[in-house]
Amino acid sequence: MKRSAVWILALCLGLLLAGCRQQPEARLTFAVGGAPAELDVWEEFVRRFSVQTGIAVEMLRQPTDSNQRRQGLLIPLKSSQADPDVFLMDVVWLAQFSASGWLLPFDEAAAEFFPRVLDLVDRHGGELVALPVNVDAGLLYYRQDLLDRYGFVGPPATWAELVAQARTVQTGERSEHPGFWGYVWQGAEYEGLICNFLEVAASAGGEIVEDGNFVLDRPANRQALAFLTGLIHDEPISPPNTFTQMKEEEVREAFQGGRALFERNWPYAWAQHQAPSSPVAGKTGIAPLPHFPGEESAATLGGWHIGISRYTDRPEQARELVRYVTSFAVQKEMALRLGWNPGRRDVYRDPQVLAELPYLEQLRGIFDHAVARPVLPYYTQVSQVLQRHLNAALAGWVPPEEALRQAQAEIEAVTARYRLH
Ligand code: GLC
Repeated sequence: MKRSAVWILALCLGLLLAGCRQQPEARLTFAVGGAPAELDVWEEFVRRFSVQTGIAVEMLRQPTDSNQRRQGLLIPLKSSQADPDVFLMDVVWLAQFSASGWLLPFDEAAAEFFPRVLDLVDRHGGELVALPVNVDAGLLYYRQDLLDRYGFVGPPATWAELVAQARTVQTGERSEHPGFWGYVWQGAEYEGLICNFLEVAASAGGEIVEDGNFVLDRPANRQALAFLTGLIHDEPISPPNTFTQMKEEEVREAFQGGRALFERNWPYAWAQHQAPSSPVAGKTGIAPLPHFPGEESAATLGGWHIGISRYTDRPEQARELVRYVTSFAVQKEMALRLGWNPGRRDVYRDPQVLAELPYLEQLRGIFDHAVARPVLPYYTQVSQVLQRHLNAALAGWVPPEEALRQAQAEIEAVTARYRLH
């Protein structure tokens, strides 16, 4: 008995010591999400930063989905934990993160960034709380080789042209590829669906906020939602899993795997499509998204911004990491290797960047007209309501006009609740 007690004591002591030894050394923690290939590049940046500065950094790999990334950050922030010290934020979280007091302000001037973007999302209550790492806008990707083969002179300017081209090519390709689709886009119940809906609505002349009030139940918005639902159920040129599964990566993989003619995605998909191992490399083109007759093409403004946690225990090192990530050299490399649209303006003037990414020039105009999502501290609550109703319409459970009516009523209730505070 006595001997076993001694053994147990020794074992406990051993475990305790091992536990002490395994304590991670003091290091900065940086939370980043994205496609696996993007995260590999981030790991490389972080390693280089550590070599240059002697500051150890642990990179927390987050998923691609914006909703999941936000959840992953809310837990440590709501409990005032020091880690992660630095993180990337979706443009639509900034109002909430700032209003919650979770971000450490920057004091330096930020002349090298787009002033419109800084004013719209990074400055709150006169303080600069984040800096743009990349600026996103929705784009249409198309298979140039297939348009040529079927005798189309160029990508579609209107949604009706997109449907017509998609139908022809889909019918033709199906004889050899039964799983081929005309158009893939993000329709799952998450933030990406809001982005897809907003730009189609804007391309019909619609908007969701007018004079500070939500106005979902409008003819142009109904037209947009009915159109998107029809792509899945009536034409059909978009797959049935559009409303259950299609997020950025699922859509990118379908197009990159040669299973679609058109794709709606963000600029990051370009570098992946053009990678040497990609079956669609050299066959892909980029165009502004189509519009309805008499209206203009629209793109939702997205992007990821870097910020420092108010609870960091190493603010100086965190600032150094932010300076590194937003430096000209790193931003240029992100553009060249990841196809991202940098947050810094000066990278767009770099001759090498312009030569290797000629579409950046074309994109500059897209950013000027990009449609921003409402900048509200309770945006997530509004977005969740809207995601649910838009998705129910896409699934065919509720007629589009009914879905928008219900969304309007619920969003008014959410807005009233928050305005009282
Ligand atoms: C992209 C955009 C982001 C948007 C998200 C939706 O990551 O940059 O702003 O919210 O897609 O899926």
